[in-house]
Amino acid sequence: MGDPETIEPRLSPPPHQPNVPAPGAATVAPAAAATPALPQAGPDEVALLIDDRPVVVRKGATVLQAAEKAGILVPHYCYHPGMSIAGNCRMCLVEVEKMPKLQIGCATVAAPGMVVRTNNERVRGVRAGIQEFLLINHPLDCPICDQAGECRLQSYEKDYGRGYSRFAEEKVHFPKRYDIGRSVLFDAERCIKCTRCIRFCDEVSKTHELGLFERGGHAIIGTFPGKSLDNDYSGNTVDICPVGALTWKPFRFQARVWFLRNVPSVCTGCARGCNVELAVYDHRIHWITPRRYASVNDYWMCDLGRQTYEKLYDRPRLERPAVRAAGAAAPAVLPSPEAVDRAAALLRETVTRHGAASVAAIVSARLTLEDLFMARQALRQAGITRVVVPPHEAGEDDALLLRRDKTPNARGCELVGFGRPDAAATAKLAGDIAAGHVHGLVVVGEDPVGDGVLKADRLATLEALVVIDAWQTETAKAAHVALPATGPYEADGVVVNFQGHAQRLRRGVPAPALAEPSWRWLRELGRRFGLAGSWTTASAVFDQAAAELKPLASLSWRSLGGDGHRLVSTEAGPVLGTPAGTQALEP
Ligand code: SF4
Ligand code: SF4
Ligand code: FES
Repeated sequence: MGDPETIEPRLSPPPHQPNVPAPGAATVAPAAAATPALPQAGPDEVALLIDDRPVVVRKGATVLQAAEKAGILVPHYCYHPGMSIAGNCRMCLVEVEKMPKLQIGCATVAAPGMVVRTNNERVRGVRAGIQEFLLINHPLDCPICDQAGECRLQSYEKDYGRGYSRFAEEKVHFPKRYDIGRSVLFDAERCIKCTRCIRFCDEVSKTHELGLFERGGHAIIGTFPGKSLDNDYSGNTVDICPVGALTWKPFRFQARVWFLRNVPSVCTGCARGCNVELAVYDHRIHWITPRRYASVNDYWMCDLGRQTYEKLYDRPRLERPAVRAAGAAAPAVLPSPEAVDRAAALLRETVTRHGAASVAAIVSARLTLEDLFMARQALRQAGITRVVVPPHEAGEDDALLLRRDKTPNARGCELVGFGRPDAAATAKLAGDIAAGHVHGLVVVGEDPVGDGVLKADRLATLEALVVIDAWQTETAKAAHVALPATGPYEADGVVVNFQGHAQRLRRGVPAPALAEPSWRWLRELGRRFGLAGSWTTASAVFDQAAAELKPLASLSWRSLGGDGHRLVSTEAGPVLGTPAGTQALEP
């Protein structure tokens, strides 16, 4: 790079920018065309014309929202449909007939008969000017910025910018890589002061950590004295930052965004079941971000949910079926069919010796509906009727999304007939095991030893302990037969959130080695006891469950689609007052 003073500012556009007028170029009036007729509007609606397209919107909608409805993108930085309107970036300026000055589309209310132009020469010239202005002090960081590839400043420069700058002076410098919170880094030089992050902390998380300090070219976002951006929802500020000023520490420099495959799925961190996207690169999840669903999570998710994939990689996994023979110090790895044969034989012998009542099962509310349904079928077939579901609760429900119940499918347990997670029933079972009244135990997706529900030495008295789990838990280590299951985001399935909303979890990454969805192990176990059925996919199991379980009647895997289905109407309703089914505007 040369000395800035020696750089010649380029004063005319390069020839490949035909749509952008050169500074000072005369505006050419477009040829007059017949004005299309306005459609009929209802009593609570207004009809207007945007770029000659007639559109009808509800009263109170803004020009930007009306344009979106008409399929016209008005570029914007500071506007976000989930927060108040700040009107500070000026990128959404549009021309409204009979108004001498350009108006900001995000704050101009659509009026009956309004005629709006979003893409004439005057608007394009001003947009190019805003872009040039925003880039005056913006560093040329794109090659090392995590936002590159999904940065709005970058995209808009390509679509609306001049492609060159007349600014040859020294840029104003600000702190870079500034630790603004537990998981968020701030690069003040990249910030365009749109105040989305401030408004999020004021209006959504209501934690008020951020403010705008100083004035003019020295204005800078910062935390108030003694505060740090450590609220439970801080990751959303990174999602809504239109540039790379706020970055998520665990994702920094992990992958360029154009290499990521975004898989729509559902968070498994609590009973809310927020709609999310899994950012997958090289068969590994690198980040989880929210996906809009008005009546479940709106535009947001919590920081806890963003970490739900980490346990896939930082805890030892159960990768192969392991069978521990009596008296052997270490378990032996067996082929899957032989391991299931052994599990079935142990359970059968225990039932024969002590009766079916001496065998119980612990199943998890973290399992999918397919796992739970197949557990019901297999356990019934084996004659095991005592099934408990342990609760996993922490903290309290908050006013936004987080639920005290940290399992994604407690309602699913109820639906298949296991009842809700029950601490008393779990404690009673633990007591019966300790007292020697239980001789066989099947554990699916739970770790009663690691969770402190059961003492490891009590398990030594069991004659059959069969564990199906994704991790090498304390309980799995004590098992006679341990079968490796898929973890969260490694298998397709359905979960039912606390509102009774059934949603599809989608597989984002492959499971390690011989791990299989729990329902497959349970199907195989059930077959050893005579269970008939040839389900080979989660969809086939769900459809079978829908045929047998009344609350799922009339549903099918296909009908759940991407939106899921509200099974019960309790606690239905919007998050933050956004009406369910609101048109999803580009955030
Ligand atoms: S940090 Fe990002 S979201 Fe916050 S004001 Fe700056 S550009 Fe906007
Ligand atoms: S609120 Fe619950 S479901 Fe939503 S992101 Fe957080 S942990 Fe996941
Ligand atoms: S001023 Fe309208 S989006 Fe920023």
